[in-house]
Amino acid sequence: MTNAPSTPAPAFPHRHLLGIEGLTPLQILHLLDKADDEVLVSRQVEKKKNVLRGRTQINLFFEASTRTQSSFEIAGKRLGADVMNMSVASSSVKKGETLIDTAATLNAMRPDILVVRHHAAGAVHLLARKVSCSVINAGDGAHEHPTQALLDALTIRRHKGTIEGLTVAICGDIVHSRVARSNILLLNALGARVKLVGPSTLLPSGAERLCVETFTDMKKGLEGADIVMMLRLQRERMNGSFVPSVREYFRYWGLDSEKLAWAAPGALVMHPGPMNRGVEIDPEVADGPQSLIAEQVEMGVAVRMAVLETLAEHLPNA
Ligand code: NCD
Repeated sequence: MTNAPSTPAPAFPHRHLLGIEGLTPLQILHLLDKADDEVLVSRQVEKKKNVLRGRTQINLFFEASTRTQSSFEIAGKRLGADVMNMSVASSSVKKGETLIDTAATLNAMRPDILVVRHHAAGAVHLLARKVSCSVINAGDGAHEHPTQALLDALTIRRHKGTIEGLTVAICGDIVHSRVARSNILLLNALGARVKLVGPSTLLPSGAERLCVETFTDMKKGLEGADIVMMLRLQRERMNGSFVPSVREYFRYWGLDSEKLAWAAPGALVMHPGPMNRGVEIDPEVADGPQSLIAEQVEMGVAVRMAVLETLAEHLPNA
């Protein structure tokens, strides 16, 4: 009996990118490798490819965003897609209804890719089940923000060569942060050691399940860290008082050069933005020689190009 020739399994077999959860290390590495190529495209004078020519990409943002939305817009345009931005001011009461209605309306316009940000965790997954195109999660509540974790990993890998074996301290408002959640999943998948650092009110419960260590003492938390990832204090997601005062917060958990010296020599500093200077990070550190913050923005476009291009390979008639 002869075996029929088998087609090799695709390197990235998913129709959507809804989270880091569910991705294998190889699938993550596939996206990072592709993003390295996209960096070269973005650094050319002629920044245009035509892999998405004829395709429609809609950026549907239920939550305000500057950098993520413009990053997805530039990424889509560099690949030749027709990109449309839709910002939806939503009432929190009618959230569910508005979302499904909007999804049905947009679906009828036959987009190929929907990039969605929503203030409710799980909303993007729900929407993905209602449409026939590919969906990318650009941040859903405090749940996931997969392209941010991928761009952070790309930035780290380009400086350190690998993620495996690195110690990464994620500091600040972890409990409200989709960036932290996606980064924890990705860094664990690629073999980094993750330390979460912040006041106990902002650390997640059940951290053991996430395979991370937690620290309320910044000095112990930063010890041995190759990467110090600072997070914004998400005051819009807090009801009640999570921190005594901004001044006190900065004193204990704000990253200044004195605290940065507790990390490994030459540790690199990251922040997903937007930054609250003087709250979670001292401007001197944010703009200092160890900061990768501006580079993260550049890598953001490359990673989004890689994700769009990869998902487009699975679109009908691709
Ligand atoms: C992050 C987000 O929206 O989750 N920012 C971003 O994607 N540019 C982090 C934050 O808002 O603090």
